[in-house]
Formats: sequence, C-alpha cells, structure tokens
Amino acid sequence: MRTIREIQDRITELKKETGVCILAHSYQSPDILEVADITGDSYKLSAAAGETDAKKLLLCGVHFMAETAKLLNPEKRVYEANPDAGCPMAEQFPPEVICAAKAKFPGCAVVAYVNTTAAVKAVSDVCVTSSSAVKIVSNMEQKEILFIPDCNLGAYTQKHCPDKNLHFLPGGCPQHSAITADEARAAKAAHPDALLLVHPECRPEITEMADYVGATSGILNFARKSEHRSFIIGTEISIVQHLALECPEKRFYPISNRLCCPNMRVTSLSDVERVLREIAEGSAAELTLPEDIARDARRCLDEMLRLGG
Ligand code: 13P
Ligand code: SF4
Repeated sequence: MRTIREIQDRITELKKETGVCILAHSYQSPDILEVADITGDSYKLSAAAGETDAKKLLLCGVHFMAETAKLLNPEKRVYEANPDAGCPMAEQFPPEVICAAKAKFPGCAVVAYVNTTAAVKAVSDVCVTSSSAVKIVSNMEQKEILFIPDCNLGAYTQKHCPDKNLHFLPGGCPQHSAITADEARAAKAAHPDALLLVHPECRPEITEMADYVGATSGILNFARKSEHRSFIIGTEISIVQHLALECPEKRFYPISNRLCCPNMRVTSLSDVERVLREIAEGSAAELTLPEDIARDARRCLDEMLRLGG
C-alpha cells in the first residue's frame, strides 16, 4: 500500500505532464489542499479559475463549483475529481420552481447564490457568493429582490441592505442551518475567552451572536490576522483543523461537531490521482453543459463580476 506522500508525488508528476491546474475548496481534506494549485472559498475559486493560464482545470469540491469554473472559462477543459460530490442546497430548487416563484413575485430581480445549478443560474438575473452578496445586492438598481436558495444568507444580506426588499424561498445549507442557538451558547460557555466567527449560511440568531460574520476566506483571514488567541469556528469543521495546523499558537474550537459536510468528504486523494491519470491517457470525462443553459447562466455570473468588481 502506498503512503499519502507517494500518491501526492505521483499527482505532482501527473500535473506537470498534463498541465492541469488543481482548484480545491477550503473544506477539502489537508492531503488534497497540499497538492492543489489554488485553494479558497467559492468566490476565490471562481475568480482564480479565470486568472490561471492553465487550459485544463481539475475541481475538488462539489459539482456547482466545477460548473461555475466551466461557465466562466468556456474555452478551458474542466474536470471533476469526483462527479458524485454534489451540494444538496444547490439542488434544492429546480429551475421550474424558480420560474413559478418569479411569477409569484412579479417585478423582482432574481439573485441566485453561487451554490445553485447552472440551470437555476440560467433563469436568474445575478449570482452572488457569500463574500459578495451584500456588495452586489446594494449595487443593484432594483429594490424588490427574490433571493434564492439560502434564506439565512438572504436574511444577513437584508440586514446589511436596509433599502432593499428581499423575498425568499425556504432553502439553505442543511449543515450550517442545522446548528442551533443553544449549541452556539454552549460553545461560548465552554470557551468564554474565544471569539465566535460565523458563516452567513448559519441561522440569524447565531450570526447575531457572532464577533465576526464572513465567508470561508473571511473567517480564515480574520483568525490568521487577529491578535486574539482562541476562536469558536461557526462553519464547516475542516476549517478548525486547517487553522489549527496553520496557527499552532492559537486555539480553535468547532461551534458543533455536527457542522460537517458529508458532500465535501466524498472526494479523496486517490480520486485526484485517478482523474489526472485519465486526463494523461485521454480518457477523462470532461464537464460539459448544454449551450443555451451555459449562455444564460454565464450572463448571470458576468453580472456578478460586474456588480461585485
Ligand atoms: P463559501 O465558499 O462561499 O464560504 O461557501 C461555503 C460553502 O458552503 C461552500 O459550499
Ligand atoms: Fe452545500 Fe452546505 Fe456542503 Fe457547502 S457546506 S457544499 S452549501 S451542503
């Protein structure tokens, strides 16, 4: 049986041979992050996919992230390390439900969280990520907005955009939204000196308790730069592990051991090696999207870059 190091060395060789750029979401395991060329949250991955010169991209994360990379870089070849890794929030509402909601809220602009399928983006007006939602919504001309699918991120955005009128569908991240205010209070009671850093996908009663609210990269940067010594991490539990490895002089505690995304655990280091080998052999399955959906979804992402830039 090979060691992790041996698999990583083979991945490095295959990357050189194929010219592939590996993009990995921060929720991936450390052995994958170590071989990735670009790591970060959804926004950073979207932006970086367009900036790299590489013509082939391999996404380690969940399906909508690979779709987003393809939409923003139609000329590049995009591969998924494991196509079974999906996001339940992204698949919560099919495009028909969004079209029916548009009819129910006439005149509303539809703002879609990037955690949606390309088909849902195609029937929406503008995309946002958790780090750009407030800026983009406040830069929009329209006052009436249908914000989908995450009503927790929507409530956070509404609070920071008081001039806008946001409407919601009852959607959200099953992992972040499951965490209760009691769990947050228990974590604070157990670690009274720790700052509470929370992702806006958490319920409003939790973001209201937080010392800092931000997307994954925001939480990572806050914890790295802060002079404070201990932190309760109100996002996916892998971030606790990454920060503990990166900042050994500081203490990091999960808001709850339940905040663990099984979808982000689907991809393994062996998947990364296998797909790179298939790319080298010319047998890897490339991600493709129907042309009409790609065109309309791309417009929604271009609008995100225009209003968030
Ligand atoms: P960000 O990457 O925007 O922080 O979102 C977190 C998440 O749940 C990704 O699926
Ligand atoms: Fe989807 Fe939530 Fe997992 Fe992110 S953490 S991939 S939003 S289920």
